[in-house]
Amino acid sequence: MPTTNRQIHLAARPVGFPMESDFRLVEAPLPACGDGQFIVKTQYISVDPYMRGRMNEMKGYAEPFQIGQVITGGSVGTVTESKHPGFKPGDVVQGMWGWQEYALTAGEMCSKFDPTLAPISTALGVLGMPGMTAYFGFLDICKPKAGETVFVSGAAGAVGSLVGQIAKIKGCRAVGSAGTDEKIEYLLKEDGFDAAFNYKKVNDYAAKLRELCPKGIDGYFDNVGGPQSDAAFSLLNPFARISICGQISMYNSTAPEVGPRLVLTMLLIRQATATGFLVPQFAARYPEGIAQMAQWIKEGKIHYREDIMDGVENTPKAFIGMLNGNNKGKQLVRVG
Ligand SMILES: NC(=O)c1ccc[n+]([C@@H]2O[C@H](COP(=O)([O-])OP(=O)(O)OC[C@H]3O[C@@H](n4cnc5c(N)ncnc54)[C@H](OP(=O)(O)O)[C@@H]3O)[C@@H](O)[C@H]2O)c1
Repeated sequence: MPTTNRQIHLAARPVGFPMESDFRLVEAPLPACGDGQFIVKTQYISVDPYMRGRMNEMKGYAEPFQIGQVITGGSVGTVTESKHPGFKPGDVVQGMWGWQEYALTAGEMCSKFDPTLAPISTALGVLGMPGMTAYFGFLDICKPKAGETVFVSGAAGAVGSLVGQIAKIKGCRAVGSAGTDEKIEYLLKEDGFDAAFNYKKVNDYAAKLRELCPKGIDGYFDNVGGPQSDAAFSLLNPFARISICGQISMYNSTAPEVGPRLVLTMLLIRQATATGFLVPQFAARYPEGIAQMAQWIKEGKIHYREDIMDGVENTPKAFIGMLNGNNKGKQLVRVG
């Protein structure tokens, strides 16, 4: 067994957009496995937008990361040594040990992943947190009905691309936005979206959405917030449902943003419902979501895309790249 463990620590709290100097690669000792503990060798690390909020000093919905500490978050790997009754060598385990090559753990926040369902990287994507976000955040909140129009902002990412595909399974018209022409082509040709636009090349989002959603918007799955949401709210149909999943357009802002005071008026006059959610609220129902997503993958109704960077030392680069929109699908880091 190796005795050292390469980890990525938070070196400084980012101001605005994170820089690689905000992170530090550290070689830490890997302590021996004690009773009730096991060691996992990381195979994939997930980099996720919510981690940006945890790099700030102020508490959001999760505790801030501490400077000089390893960055925690979703990872998946294989047990190499165990003195824990519930885990044995060879088990594939996902947990929150984060940006490091090994984890010594007593199993807190860890669960086994069934590698016969799909490749183990999917434990962090389509069959993991992003997949459950798309499945429950869309179906439970947008409550799609056949023939309705659904707009998904941030449509080419880990969550958004799955939401669009689920919307199609439910018989909806799926309209998406993303930040490159290549992503738009992929949404239309591979993910089955009916229409999509590159938000970096469009000035008037409301006009574009009027063109692409001629019957208005019944369901809005909001990954990004900001001006795209302002435009989407102006096109809501009566009794529309809005799932507020993320606000990534503001995660690196250093001051609060203001927009038109249209949102509440539109909710009122369209008798619409906007609901924020955090995916752990659905944790008790994850087995249902995983089984359904795995079934849809087997039937060829859902496909997923992963963008994989190699080396634990490149995790900050992968994270910053994801915030910049470099990722095509779920951004992962492969370790070892
Ligand atoms: N509520 C929950 O429980 C929950 C759980 C998971 C994720 N989320 C949220 O869901 C959203 C998507 O997460 P994900 O994991 O699927 O990430 P992702 O979409 O795979 O990656 C993030 C994407 O955001 C886009 N982006 C970056 N800056 C932007 C901006 N200023 N305006 C518009 N788009 C921008 C980039 O794509 P472009 O090239 O298109 O710009 C980038 O690829 C995030 O807001 C995240 O916080 C919420």
